[in-house]
Amino acid sequence: MAKLASGRVTEKSSELLDKFNASLPFDKKLYAEDIKGSVAHATMLHAQGILSESELQAITEGLQKIEQEIENDLFQFEIADEDIHMAIEKRLTDLIGDTGKKLHTARSRNDQVALDFRLYVQKNTLLIKDQLLKLEAVLLEIAKAHTDTMLPGMTHLQHAQPINFAYHMLAYMSMFKRDIERFESAYERNNYSPIGCAALAGTPHPIDREQTARLLGFKAPTVNCLDTVSDRDFALDILYNISVLMTHISRLSEELILWSSSEFGFVSLSDSYSTSSSIMPQKKNPDVPELLRGKTGRVYGNLIALLTVLKGLPLAYNKDMQEDKEGVFDSVETACLSVEILTAALDTMTVNKEKMQEACKIGHLSATDLADYLVQKCGMPFRDAYKITGAIVVEAEKMEVDLSELPFEVIKTLAPCVGEDIKSFLDLRHSMNARTSEGGTATEMTLKQIAWFDKWLDEILSKQQ
Ligand code: ARG
Repeated sequence: MAKLASGRVTEKSSELLDKFNASLPFDKKLYAEDIKGSVAHATMLHAQGILSESELQAITEGLQKIEQEIENDLFQFEIADEDIHMAIEKRLTDLIGDTGKKLHTARSRNDQVALDFRLYVQKNTLLIKDQLLKLEAVLLEIAKAHTDTMLPGMTHLQHAQPINFAYHMLAYMSMFKRDIERFESAYERNNYSPIGCAALAGTPHPIDREQTARLLGFKAPTVNCLDTVSDRDFALDILYNISVLMTHISRLSEELILWSSSEFGFVSLSDSYSTSSSIMPQKKNPDVPELLRGKTGRVYGNLIALLTVLKGLPLAYNKDMQEDKEGVFDSVETACLSVEILTAALDTMTVNKEKMQEACKIGHLSATDLADYLVQKCGMPFRDAYKITGAIVVEAEKMEVDLSELPFEVIKTLAPCVGEDIKSFLDLRHSMNARTSEGGTATEMTLKQIAWFDKWLDEILSKQQ
């Protein structure tokens, strides 16, 4: 079968070229977007008097048949067709004859691919956002159950101050909320239709880009066609947004890996989301968070790859741009799967309250409270208070007790100004609940944050219905 577009090039292309040049093996994923775009384009051509009623009908029915063929695995993909756009158009002409050849009026593959790819990115932006909302709901549920569960908050991975587990989960909720907002803003920014831009300069045909934009669910057509056929910012946006999302997922994964080790024992991942070792029968491995952490690398790679492809390109379309799709497909699939499995792993995870609480007794977590007491109650300058607290901590170390368990007399010897009430100040739960400043970890403040996230999630979910 002759090639659909064999204008200037008359000799048959080599098989090697066909293989090298083709995007069909991967862009066939865009078949539904391509058909949707073609139906909208044909509808507009008819409304503008460029296609007759019967031509539009033949084209639409032909395209519908092709969609079914692809969905039922009956479509013959031929590498020589180069890409999904040519493959579908050729099949349309096979099916309906010469009318099929009219579909490409006032259109080029350059605006066609820009449209298909943008539709794919927009659709998946919403999909990832929806999945993130489910993750947020699970995080919120865990938070609600643990507003009083203390664990050692850390800096430098060293015990620092007691915080509650809900507060820790809400930190991740905050990150994923920003991710959701990043996906939302990218959706808005890219919600403009490329179709009708033709090769690069627009078209002399009397087309109506407003109509195709409307039919395809875009806010409006893009403004400048030269930019439109050259622009892959929408692809960079989703790659970047997924990269940031995976950074957050990776950090949470790292904590899950640490927390599920024997050294921490803070959480236990359910058996259905853990794996075993092929040789050590006693082992239960956190493969899920490890893989999530690992997959972050490929997602960064996809972003850097596309940035690099685009950086030296003159306007407008260059074939280099065909390299834009596989990385995006891969990142989107990675993100969807990652968010889904993380949600399930968190939903089924056991939180070991006692272990977390026990761990708070390591590292003199209420040392800052002692220094704060000396400042507030004894009127000491903070640096002096800091020094005396250090000396008291050394005493606790010598006696092998946590500062919260150090006898009053010992404290009194080094800091004569303290009253009996110092003991309650050094109590770990007291330390946590003393942090009542805005955004702090006190249970009271954590509950406030939970109410805030609850309202946000409720509003966003009710808007979607
Ligand atoms: N397969 C091409 C791509 O993915 C479609 C656009 C081709 N346009 C062109 N003028 N060769 O980028």
